[in-house]
Amino acid sequence: MLEQVIQRDFGTPEVVSDKTVTLTIDGVQVTVPLGTSLMRAALIAGTKIPKLCATDSLEPFGSCRLCLVAIEGRKGFPASCTTPAEQDMSVMTQTPELQNLRKGVMELYISDHPLDCLTCPANGNCELQDMAGVTGLRNVRYGTTGKNHIGSSKDESNPYFTYDASKCIVCNRCVRACEETQGTFALTISGRGFDSRVSPGQSQSFMDSECVSCGACVEACPTATLQEKSVIWLGQPDHSVTTTCAYCGVGCGFKAEMKGNQVVRMVPWKDGKANEGHSCVKGRFAWGYATHQDRMTKPMIRRSVTDPWREVSWSEAINYAASEFKRIQKKYGKDSIGAISSSRCTNEEVYLVQKLVRAGFGNNNVDTCARVCHSPTGYGLGQTFGTSAGTQTFKSVEKADVILVIGANPTDGHPVFASRMKRRLRDGARLIVIDPRRIDIVRSPHIQADYHLALKPGTNVAMLTALAHVIVCEGLVDEEFVKERCDDTSFYQWRDFVSRTDNSPEAMAEITGVKASLIREAARLFAKGVNTQKLSGPNGRVNSAIYYGLGVTEHAQGSTAVMAIANLAMITGNIGREGVGVNPLRGQNNVQGSCDMGSFPHELTGYRHISDTTTRAQFEHAWGVTIDAEPGLRIPNMFDAALDGSFKGLYCQGEDIAQSDPDTQHVSAALQAMECIVVQDIFLNETAKYAHVFLPGASFLEKDGTFTNAERRVSRVRQVMQPQGGLGDWEATQMLAQALGYPMHYQHPCEIMDEIATLTPSFQGVSFEKIDRLGSVQWPCNENSLEAGTPTMHIDKFVRGKGKFVITQYVASDEKVTRKFPLILTTGRILSQYNVGAQTRRTSNSVWHSEDLLEIHPHDANERGIQEGDWASIQSRAGTTSLRATITERVQPGVVYTTFHFPESGANVITTDSSDWATNCPEYKVTAVQVTRTTESSIWQKDYLSFNDQQMDKVKNRDISRSGI
Ligand code: SF4
Ligand code: SF4
Ligand code: SF4
Ligand code: FES
Repeated sequence: MLEQVIQRDFGTPEVVSDKTVTLTIDGVQVTVPLGTSLMRAALIAGTKIPKLCATDSLEPFGSCRLCLVAIEGRKGFPASCTTPAEQDMSVMTQTPELQNLRKGVMELYISDHPLDCLTCPANGNCELQDMAGVTGLRNVRYGTTGKNHIGSSKDESNPYFTYDASKCIVCNRCVRACEETQGTFALTISGRGFDSRVSPGQSQSFMDSECVSCGACVEACPTATLQEKSVIWLGQPDHSVTTTCAYCGVGCGFKAEMKGNQVVRMVPWKDGKANEGHSCVKGRFAWGYATHQDRMTKPMIRRSVTDPWREVSWSEAINYAASEFKRIQKKYGKDSIGAISSSRCTNEEVYLVQKLVRAGFGNNNVDTCARVCHSPTGYGLGQTFGTSAGTQTFKSVEKADVILVIGANPTDGHPVFASRMKRRLRDGARLIVIDPRRIDIVRSPHIQADYHLALKPGTNVAMLTALAHVIVCEGLVDEEFVKERCDDTSFYQWRDFVSRTDNSPEAMAEITGVKASLIREAARLFAKGVNTQKLSGPNGRVNSAIYYGLGVTEHAQGSTAVMAIANLAMITGNIGREGVGVNPLRGQNNVQGSCDMGSFPHELTGYRHISDTTTRAQFEHAWGVTIDAEPGLRIPNMFDAALDGSFKGLYCQGEDIAQSDPDTQHVSAALQAMECIVVQDIFLNETAKYAHVFLPGASFLEKDGTFTNAERRVSRVRQVMQPQGGLGDWEATQMLAQALGYPMHYQHPCEIMDEIATLTPSFQGVSFEKIDRLGSVQWPCNENSLEAGTPTMHIDKFVRGKGKFVITQYVASDEKVTRKFPLILTTGRILSQYNVGAQTRRTSNSVWHSEDLLEIHPHDANERGIQEGDWASIQSRAGTTSLRATITERVQPGVVYTTFHFPESGANVITTDSSDWATNCPEYKVTAVQVTRTTESSIWQKDYLSFNDQQMDKVKNRDISRSGI
C-alpha cells in the first residue's frame, strides 16, 4: 500500500481555539490549540500513538485502551485520545510498562479474531494488523477453542459492502460515524459484554435497516468487518488520484483508489473542503457506470434516424457534422444551428462549446441545461445582489442559528450537505421547512423542524411575501443593515408593497393552504431566533440562513421567488458573514460552472451581457472574430424554431434533452424536425435516438478539468483512466471548430482555464497550478480576494453596490386545478438515483429505486379506487403516462409526486410548456393532472418502447466496416 493512498489520521478532530498550550511529548516540545487531545498533539510532535477506537473524523470514545500514555506527576495511564493536552505537561508514549499494557490489550483482541490475514481483503490496509505489529505482539496465550465470534455470519445484503461480524472488535467507530458524520443513527451496539455486536436497526440486515449506504461506517471501520465488495473482488489499491464527484452540486472531493487503470474504490477526500471526508451512496459507490457495457466508444453517423448507424473514425464523424452544419447555415441562414452544453461537463468543456457557437457558428444560439433548473437563480440574485451565486461556504451552516429550507430536499438531493446541516441542527439550530411534501429533514433522528409550512405547490411567492409582511409589520427589520447596505428607494417601495394587508399571512392563508398563525411564528423565528438560544450574529442577533433548490426555481414565478428570498435575507441583515446567506443548492455537479462559463445565449463568461460593447470587444480581440450583439435562442426557443422550420442543426454535449426537458412530445417533434443533430455522450441516450452524428463522450473518470460546486468552489477533476472513446470532450469540440474553419489549438484543458481567467474578472486568479496547490478556490478569485478566493460574498457591499429590493407580487400559475385536472403533480429526485438516471440506473443503486412511482395521498387514492402498487394513469394537458402508485401521507391531499429517473416513465410527457416569466425555466413543480386507476401503460409509453426497440436495433446492427479508418 503506497503512502499516497492512505490519508493521514490524527486520531481526534482538530480543535479551534484562540488559546494554545505548550507541552512536551517524549522530550519534544509542541504547542497546540487548547482542548487538543494528547493523541493529536503527539502526532503533531511526530509521534504516532497506537490506537484502534479513535479516528480524527469522530469524537474520541476511549474504549480500546491501546492509546495509553504516562504523564509525569500523575498516577495511572490515561487514554491519550480522551485526555486534553495541558500547559507544561510532560508525556511519555513509549515505556516498557506501556508496551506491556498495549501488548496485553492486543492479545485479547487477537484471541477472538480469525487469523486469516493472508486471505483477508483488508490485508495490508488493516489497523488491527498494524497495531499487532506496532505493539510487538508475538504470541497469543489464549487459544481459539473457548467462546469466540469466529464463526459469526456475514451480512452481504448491501450491494456495495459486507459486514463480517467475525472480524468486529466492537470499537464503535461505525456507530459513531453513522451518528456523528452521517446523522442517520442506523447502527447500535446490541448485547452486553462478550455478546456486544454491531447491529443495524432492530437487529435487521443492512438493507432492511434505515441505512442509506453513505459508507461512513465502512470508512471508519479499522478492520475488514465493514468492507467494500469492490476491494474484496479486486484487492487493495496501489495508488490514488484526487478528483471531484460528478453527481450533485455539493462537489465532494474523492480519492479514486486505483490498481493500474482500474478503480478499486472511491474514498471521500478528508481535505476536500466541500465534504471533509464524507460522501453519499452515489459518489462513494455508484461509479461502475463508467465502465458499463452500454458505453458507446466509437463515433457514428447516419443520414436519417431511420437508417442504421455507421461506425466511423473521429475525423469522418467530425467532418460530416461540420459539412452538415455548413450546408444548413448556407440553406437556412447563420442562425439555423446552435448548441446545448451540459452541467455534467467541466468548465473548460462548457466554455469551449459556447466559444464554438459564438466564434465558429457565428451566432449566440448556445444554452445550457441550467436553463431548466437554476436559470431563475441567475436572474433573481443578479437583480438583487448583482451576481448569480450562493453567498456562503457549506461550512458556514455550522454558525447558523435558524435554517430555512425551501423547495429543497437535501437528504435526497444534496446528502453530504444535509449531514452537515443535521449536525448543526442536533447542536441546537432551529429549522423551518417550506415544502409541499413532508421531506425527511422535517423529522429524522434527533431532528424535528420547528415549522413545516406545507404549502400548496406554486405558492412560494405568496408564502415568502407573507413572511416578509410579518417581519416588516412587526418591526423586526434590521434597520441598520438596510440603511447601510441597501438601496433606499427600492426598499421603501417594497416595504409599502409587503405591508399591504393583501400580503398578510391571513390573506395568503387560503392561497398557500398554511395557517396564518404558523406563518407568523415562522417569520418571527427567522427574524429573531428564540430567546433560549445562544445567538451567533453580531450584537447577539440571530444568524439565519436560507437554503433553496429547484422547488423554488422550477415555477412560473421562479425568478420572483428567488428575489423574495433575497429580500428576506436583506431585511433581516442575513448577508455578508458566516452562518447566514442565500444558498441555492445546485442540482448537477457543475451547474454553477456551466452558468459562469458564458453558456447562456445572452451572457459571456462571468455573467456579462452580450450587448455590452466593452466585454464583447475583449472577446472579439482574443478570439479574432466579430460577436453578434443580439442574444441567441434559449432551449425552448430552439424547439419552437425547429418546429417553425428555421432551426435545423444542434450540437448537444452531455445533455439528454429528450428525457429531461418538459413536454416530451413537443421536444421529440422538434428533434424530428431538425436535419443534423450531433450528440456527444457516454451512452446512447434518449436524444441520441434522434441524432445523425454520435460522438463518444468521456466519463468524469476520463476527464481533466474543473467543476464548480454550489459554494463557487472550483475543484479539479483529474483523469484516472484514458477516455474510452479515445478523445476528451474538449478535444472533440476543438476538432469540430477546426472542421468548421475556426482555429482552436489547445494542448491541455489548463490552457482553456488560462484563457477563461484572462477574459473573466471573477476568475482572474484561477489556474490549474493554484488549484493543485491549494486544493480548490472559490470565485471571485482575483487581486481583490484572498489567494484561495472568496468564501463569503457581499461582506461589505453587494456586488451591485447597494442591495436592491424587488417587488414580488404573487401571480397564480396558469397550471390551475380544474374539474378535468383536479390534482397538482410535483416532481423531484431520490437519493439513490440521479437526474435522468443514465448513470445511476447502470449501477446497483437501482436496488433501492428501480422505477419511478407516483406518490398519492390515501384520500385521493381511495377516491379513485387506487391501491398500493396499482397502475395509475396520469393525464395533463400535455400528455398521459402510467406509473405504479404508492400511497403515502408524505404528500398532502390534492398533490401527487413522482421522480423522473427512468425514460419509460414519461414524467415529462405530463409536464407542460408553462415556464418562469423571466428565464423560461420550466414549471416542473406544478402540473395540473387527473389520476385514474389503469391496468396498462399509456399510448405514449407503448410508442416509446417501440421507437426505443427500433433505435436499439439500429445500434446493434450498425455497420462497423469503416470504424477506425
Ligand atoms: S464494524 Fe468495524 S467499526 Fe464497527 S465496531 Fe466492528 S470493528 Fe469497529
Ligand atoms: S452506510 Fe452510512 S447510513 Fe449506513 S450504517 Fe453506515 S454510516 Fe450509517
Ligand atoms: S453529496 Fe453529491 S457530490 Fe457528494 S458524494 Fe453525494 S452526489 Fe457526490
Ligand atoms: S484509541 Fe484511545 S482508547 Fe482507543
